[in-house]
Amino acid sequence: MALTASEHKATLSFTDGTAPLDLPILKGTVGPDVIDIRQLYAKTGKFTYDSGFMSTAACNSTITYIDGDKGELLYRGYPIEQLAVQSDFLEVCHLILFGDLPNADQKKDFVARVTKHTMVHEQMQFFLRGFRRDAHPMSILMGLVAAMSAFYPDSANLSDPWQREVSAIRLIAKLPNLVALSYKYSVGQPYVYPRNDLSYAANFMRMMFATPCEEYKVNDVLVRALDRIFILHADHEQNASTSTVRLCASSGTNPFAAIAAGVACLWGPAHGGANEAALNMLYDIQKNGGVAKIGEFIAQVKDKNSSVRLMGFGHRVYKNYDPRAKLMRETCHEVLGELGLHDDPLFKLAMALEKIALEDDYFVQRKLYPNVDFYSGIVQKAIGIPVSLFTAIFALARTVGWIAQLNEMIADPEYKIGRPRQLFTGATRREVLPLHLRP
Ligand code: CMC
Repeated sequence: MALTASEHKATLSFTDGTAPLDLPILKGTVGPDVIDIRQLYAKTGKFTYDSGFMSTAACNSTITYIDGDKGELLYRGYPIEQLAVQSDFLEVCHLILFGDLPNADQKKDFVARVTKHTMVHEQMQFFLRGFRRDAHPMSILMGLVAAMSAFYPDSANLSDPWQREVSAIRLIAKLPNLVALSYKYSVGQPYVYPRNDLSYAANFMRMMFATPCEEYKVNDVLVRALDRIFILHADHEQNASTSTVRLCASSGTNPFAAIAAGVACLWGPAHGGANEAALNMLYDIQKNGGVAKIGEFIAQVKDKNSSVRLMGFGHRVYKNYDPRAKLMRETCHEVLGELGLHDDPLFKLAMALEKIALEDDYFVQRKLYPNVDFYSGIVQKAIGIPVSLFTAIFALARTVGWIAQLNEMIADPEYKIGRPRQLFTGATRREVLPLHLRP
């Protein structure tokens, strides 16, 4: 995509005799200006250093915009607060993939296309059997998503826009099935085939919870809650897993392989694993004395010598409130009300922890607010989803974002393989000594 340059420039000056350098400034439609340093190495022989990407835009994108200070999240310009209330997940998928919300005909067509692809290849079942029953669902999901590359070799042709679109549809359609398969395998129950007359979220819940001897009764409040979880997690611009997908796919690899890399990255507790970590943290506090022990736990979190963090709190970008957390909090109360769980000790503990942390100076000063994962874990637990499956559900929802970002990158005529540079701090050149002379 052609980038817009500002009439202003940034001038970089040096104290080591290197000549000053004018660098172009690029302008987005909204958000901070970006200093274009692509010519820096060629002109000065120097790199920039930004290991955690604190100030570095790694790509240009038209999909998602976040203003962390305002607590704003827009998918293709639409505020998440409106999408969460007025749209369903498949409408949001259409928006993220194709750039706009579908009209009635487009929606019908898109839902039909996704629905046509909900089954997975029957051989997947045999692939599953290779895993131990107690394998973590994320390790299974990584394997299953990567295995899709073997089932759909036609998708390997990344230069064909039609194949890229078909891969996107296949991924969105099949992920619920793959997550449900991972779950059913871990509990030793027969797999449940998709039923295409149900909505996306209801179909997923049925594949999770129905058995051959008992049909699953769809509960609209719970289905709507899960659909909202999917919407809120659908994309989040250049987070760690999305950047992983982009970097992985920049080599031209198979799209399913790149999405499997995203699943792998998402698993970490600082990213998608936070919802599981948050619930496990609540279990630990409960085991050690419950609400009465929150003070002790918070003291540990604040202790610089301990590595304990309050999971489900804090965010790299949102230094105000995570707008997704507000919506998820609302859903959390709706679901607890529907299931009569407001008095459940674990949920009471979560609410007490939220209150104390929101009032505590340590968290206030560092602008550490609950993030979406604090509440999404509680909602999923209430729905009956096992804790170890939380991150897989995040992966299911984020798949549309990953594949849309991947396709956006590949369609950009200026895209290059991603190849970061480094500041080398290891040994300089030295000679190999024969074994008997080595110290
Ligand atoms: N509990 C206690 N202290 C924290 C926490 C926390 N959850 N998060 C940050 N801090 C402190 C940190 O110790 C540091 O304090 P100091 O300035 O005194 O050294 C300060 O806040 C800044 O922290 P940071 O690690 O530099 O912040 P970051 O932007 O690198 O980290 C984060 C962001 C999300 C990794 C971090 O807040 C965290 O580990 N949170 C818990 C895990 C979590 O909930 N992750 C889910 C993120 S939302 C889902 C997603 O988008 O993936």
